[in-house]
Amino acid sequence: MTRRRWRKPQKRVKTGANRVSTAKPRVGLLHSLLRKDEKMLLAAFQRAGVEPVMLDDRQLVFDFAHGPEVDVVLERALNHSRGLNALRLFEAAGIKCINSYSVANVCGDKLLTTAALAEHGVAQPQSRVAFTEAAALQAIEDIGYPVVLKPVVGSWGRLLSKINDRDAAEAILEHKAVLGSYQHSVFYIQDYVAKAGRDIRSFVVGDECIAAIYRSSEHWITNTARGAVASKCVVTPEIADISLRAAAAVGGGVLAVDLFESAAGLMVNEVNNTMEFKNSVDTSGVDIPAKMVAYALAEAKK
Ligand SMILES: Nc1ncnc2c1ncn2[C@@H]1O[C@H](COP(=O)(O)OP(=O)(O)O)[C@@H](O)[C@H]1O
Ligand SMILES: [Mg+2]
Repeated sequence: MTRRRWRKPQKRVKTGANRVSTAKPRVGLLHSLLRKDEKMLLAAFQRAGVEPVMLDDRQLVFDFAHGPEVDVVLERALNHSRGLNALRLFEAAGIKCINSYSVANVCGDKLLTTAALAEHGVAQPQSRVAFTEAAALQAIEDIGYPVVLKPVVGSWGRLLSKINDRDAAEAILEHKAVLGSYQHSVFYIQDYVAKAGRDIRSFVVGDECIAAIYRSSEHWITNTARGAVASKCVVTPEIADISLRAAAAVGGGVLAVDLFESAAGLMVNEVNNTMEFKNSVDTSGVDIPAKMVAYALAEAKK
């Protein structure tokens, strides 16, 4: 990243209807290593005739005042905290980000996501938060076994525990209290939702639920990163409705929503902000990166 590319913060000035800019939108792509997802995005930008400004988070230096000369940044960082902090600094330089710092902050933290979904009346598994082992054990017994314990920050199904009885609850809580890092001092507990071997991952871009897949596994953890198999899921009005309401609850943008098909109907498990989609394009038959690029270009022109 050369210094001359960075500009002073500018106030966004709305162009009047008779002064619409015809300049090509400038999109920054914040990235780390380029995974298959980012390569698919780059190909989609190329097809749209746009060359994004590559912003490698391993080389960036911020000074709290200047930002790159772009209209919008599409955040694709590998590391959540790196992406999150970069979003805050881009926004400080007056640059619109997809997704915003606030959305990334809420989605990156299961406690904040649950709070946002609850505030907006979006169906989700019964959840409890406690700060001590004793209070957590009480919360677990209140919900009833089995329960799921999760770190509030994490992904790819890592460090999730399904707890079937009190012996296991005591053991896991003690291990977290004694061995866990700061993050594990918040006990986030959910009712275990029996989900018949699969869950749904839906994709929201702006105000549209563009695609969905089933993720099936013999294991109760159905992340594709953990070996679940993806298959096509038709976006029903119910799936679109709850997905859009979940996306709106966290602030909207480009998001992937995890849904459970429970006996009580669809419920939202979590909302993902820097979504992976490489396994979902062929499966869903939807060109997800093309939709993301179209959205980024439209946002850049606003
Ligand atoms: N309360 C629950 N009941 C049943 N299965 C769950 C529950 N919470 C999580 N899972 C399973 O574990 C997977 C990973 O959980 P999730 O909360 O999405 O964490 P991550 O951020 O690691 O993906 C989910 O996709 C689902 O298959
Ligand atoms: Mg998940």
